[in-house]
Amino acid sequence: MNLTLKIWRQKGPKDKGKIVDYKVNDISEHMSFLEMMDVLNEQLINSGEDPVAFDHDCREGICGSCSMFINGRAHGPAEGTTTCQLHMRSFSDGDTIYIEPFRANAFPVIKDLVVDRSAFERIQQAGGYISVNTSGNTQDANAIPIPKEDADMAMDAATCIGCGACVATCKNASAMLFVGAKISQYALLPQGRVEAEKRAKNMVAQMDAEGFGNCTNTGACEVECPKGISLSNIARMNREFLTANLKK
Ligand code: SF4
Ligand code: FES
Repeated sequence: MNLTLKIWRQKGPKDKGKIVDYKVNDISEHMSFLEMMDVLNEQLINSGEDPVAFDHDCREGICGSCSMFINGRAHGPAEGTTTCQLHMRSFSDGDTIYIEPFRANAFPVIKDLVVDRSAFERIQQAGGYISVNTSGNTQDANAIPIPKEDADMAMDAATCIGCGACVATCKNASAMLFVGAKISQYALLPQGRVEAEKRAKNMVAQMDAEGFGNCTNTGACEVECPKGISLSNIARMNREFLTANLKK
């Protein structure tokens, strides 16, 4: 495949940034999208130009770092797929592909396609943990009976990889799907009930402090989430938050 790439180039946080055109030729349909980007970067390095900065780590859909907008969609055209899992067979010879960073006030651009998603880390630090007795007398987690349905829902919520596609896709740049998933994975399990009230209040407060928008129930986040995180997690977060505030 021969392709035209229109890529957002931005030297740093204060640079205005612009779309720059590149050509890549002889791209195999079996390559991943990031391998195609590697081909472009080798081309740029060989010609003495600055390679395109983009985030990646696991390249198997679990770390959540390969965030970019491809032809106007977070992680590109395939359903339930991160950018690193997207293959070039999703495109055709002669295509023009637009590649841009995730855009949200709370995710400022660092360079090119790399954005600062440390706001998610700060939300996690505000309550995304449990207290566990590590004295040597710790109760085996398997000894605590948990209804299968709850365990399944907690596991589904825990599959959130913190990629930020929900925020980048939402017209309000809301982080509620992410925060809802993180609160739910603990709220559904007995181990998570100890700090449940504090967690709901603190994580929501941190989310607001980071400048994410509010949820207006559009549902775009659920559609574009590569892990299929359900909107029901937002409803659970709202219930947890309301209950916590009614108690005190
Ligand atoms: S909820 Fe989905 S889209 Fe949002 S951060 Fe988690 S995995 Fe990514
Ligand atoms: S590089 Fe880890 S999810 Fe894509």
